[in-house]
Amino acid sequence: MSNDVELIELEEEEHTSSLTTPVLNRILGLLKPHRKSVVGFLITIALTAGLDSFFTYINKNIIDLAIVGRNYGILWKLAAVYGILQVIQSGMVFTFIYLAGVLGERIQYDLRRSMFEHLQDLSLSYYSQNAVGRLIARVTSDSGRVADLMTWGLVDTTWAFMNITAATIFMLIINWQLALIVLAVLPILTIIAINFRKKILVEFRNSRRANSKITGAYNENIQGVRVIKALGREEKNLTEFMDLTDNMYSATYRAAWLSALFLPTVQIITAIALAFIVWFGGYQALSGTLTIGGIYAFVSYLTFIMWPIQDLARVYAEMQHSIASAERIFKLIDTEPEIRDKPEATEAETLLGEIEFEHVNFYYEDRKPVLSDFSLKVKAGETIALVGPTGGGKSTIVNLLCRFYEPNDGTIRINGKDYKEYTLSSIQRKIGIVLQTPHLFSGTVRDNIHYGRLDASNEEVEEAAILAGAHEFINNLPKGYDENVGEGGNLLSVGQKQLISLARAILSKPELFIMDEATSSVDTLTESLIQQGMERLMKGRTSFVIAHRLSTIRRADRIVVIENGKIAEIGTHAELLKAQGHYYRLYTQQFKFQREQEYSFAKAVPLID
Ligand SMILES: Nc1ncnc2c1ncn2[C@@H]1O[C@H](COP(=O)(O)OP(=O)(O)O)[C@@H](O)[C@H]1O
Ligand SMILES: [Mg+2]
Repeated sequence: MSNDVELIELEEEEHTSSLTTPVLNRILGLLKPHRKSVVGFLITIALTAGLDSFFTYINKNIIDLAIVGRNYGILWKLAAVYGILQVIQSGMVFTFIYLAGVLGERIQYDLRRSMFEHLQDLSLSYYSQNAVGRLIARVTSDSGRVADLMTWGLVDTTWAFMNITAATIFMLIINWQLALIVLAVLPILTIIAINFRKKILVEFRNSRRANSKITGAYNENIQGVRVIKALGREEKNLTEFMDLTDNMYSATYRAAWLSALFLPTVQIITAIALAFIVWFGGYQALSGTLTIGGIYAFVSYLTFIMWPIQDLARVYAEMQHSIASAERIFKLIDTEPEIRDKPEATEAETLLGEIEFEHVNFYYEDRKPVLSDFSLKVKAGETIALVGPTGGGKSTIVNLLCRFYEPNDGTIRINGKDYKEYTLSSIQRKIGIVLQTPHLFSGTVRDNIHYGRLDASNEEVEEAAILAGAHEFINNLPKGYDENVGEGGNLLSVGQKQLISLARAILSKPELFIMDEATSSVDTLTESLIQQGMERLMKGRTSFVIAHRLSTIRRADRIVVIENGKIAEIGTHAELLKAQGHYYRLYTQQFKFQREQEYSFAKAVPLID
């Protein structure tokens, strides 16, 4: 687990919530689909716990009836019952542990699945507001914690309640006065146990957080060792590191101290109660109202009852954090996607028509205007190049076009109709997109191209790769198309990933093709391969191309220079050069830069013949 995610998790764990009826109902609702196994395992636990107290009762009778009463007949019968019930109980222990394990897995599966499905539906704006690490933490650890509460929490609670109830009943049967003494101690023990548990939990969290920060500091210092040395910051870093270590030491120290104090405290109170029972029970035994077996039973009930109380305290202390987890999960599931189909939305027949941005205004969540009064009309099949300084709004234009976001004002029309009248999926299906940082999924090269159109044949996959200019390098891979690309494609170079994502876009036969700086981080050879693939792809399609290298854009039908969310200039390459405006400056600057580079390269590496 990465350090950041761990820190986020710890931060989220800090939140506690108390149980309210709506949350309780929803949490219990998670059990609904698994009603049968829940009922099954609750009954098994209740019986198991009840038997626990019954065993003490049998032992009491063995002492009183068989041993004190010197009755061999009853002795072997009671021993046989004892043995048989023990075997039955073992079977039940197996059953409920197994059932609880299965149930926990199912609940986690349900939660993760509904979160995953929901995350896929949410609009991009949700992702830009919520750190991805946070989302991962939510899907993994929150669902785990809720599932734990609903299984092991439920096991412990049922077990404890049944144990206490059954013990109480047997104690009342044996001797009600002594039973009242034990019952008086219960609440005291419970309150102490809960308070200790809560404090220990807090200290453990503090120590875990300190530990996590120390790991982070180690990483940073080792990775940044050159910078640290160059700037002479060793001393300062050491001081910071020592502070972290001190924090961890004191948190761990407090946790250890509390843990050590907890059991003796409980034991002292129990001991006082025990002394009372021995004295009062002995007194009653002397006067003949209590048997020896009865004293034995009370001593064991009192010593055993400590454990269910501690279990209850632990579950209770952890429950508040689990409820906070559940609330975070429910909040995620309740988030409505910002972009949804209108009820009367229709399928977009084709995107190969006129596309028009009409007085579009747009801002992201921070409300800083990005596009203002942006208007542009694009004919079917036209290639539009978007150029201009970083942060001008080029990517935003294509984000809007893909309907990852929608305009705040103004309209985007496809075939004359507001694109909000169409279903989202019918638009997005017909768009092929290649981005600056290509994304591959783990699997083979073939799988990754296939992702563009799932019903494509192997021949079509290879055709697409040929068109993209990727076929040659794929064939040179040891396993060709069946080569594994690694997680996120990390076994391939950026250029190779880019060629594969281009092949994927080609396979999907888009009607609208978008490239956002796809050639920015590749070498010149790959760039020219991508360039050729792109040109084949753009034939007969409407395309939007964002690029820094002007050689890529020169052949576009129209070039749009975007500055500060506005169109600074628009026209063909020739027209814009002639106008000697923004584009002319961009072009000549880059041209000059290239020439200088070539010149200095030629000087540095003289040709040898
Ligand atoms: N997800 C986002 N949330 C908030 N602001 C954003 C987001 N994406 C881009 N911006 C801002 O919008 C402006 C335009 O960005 P962008 O469209 O990416 O420009 P370009 O692609 O031309 O470099 C920039 O000021 C950028 O900081
Ligand atoms: Mg951009």
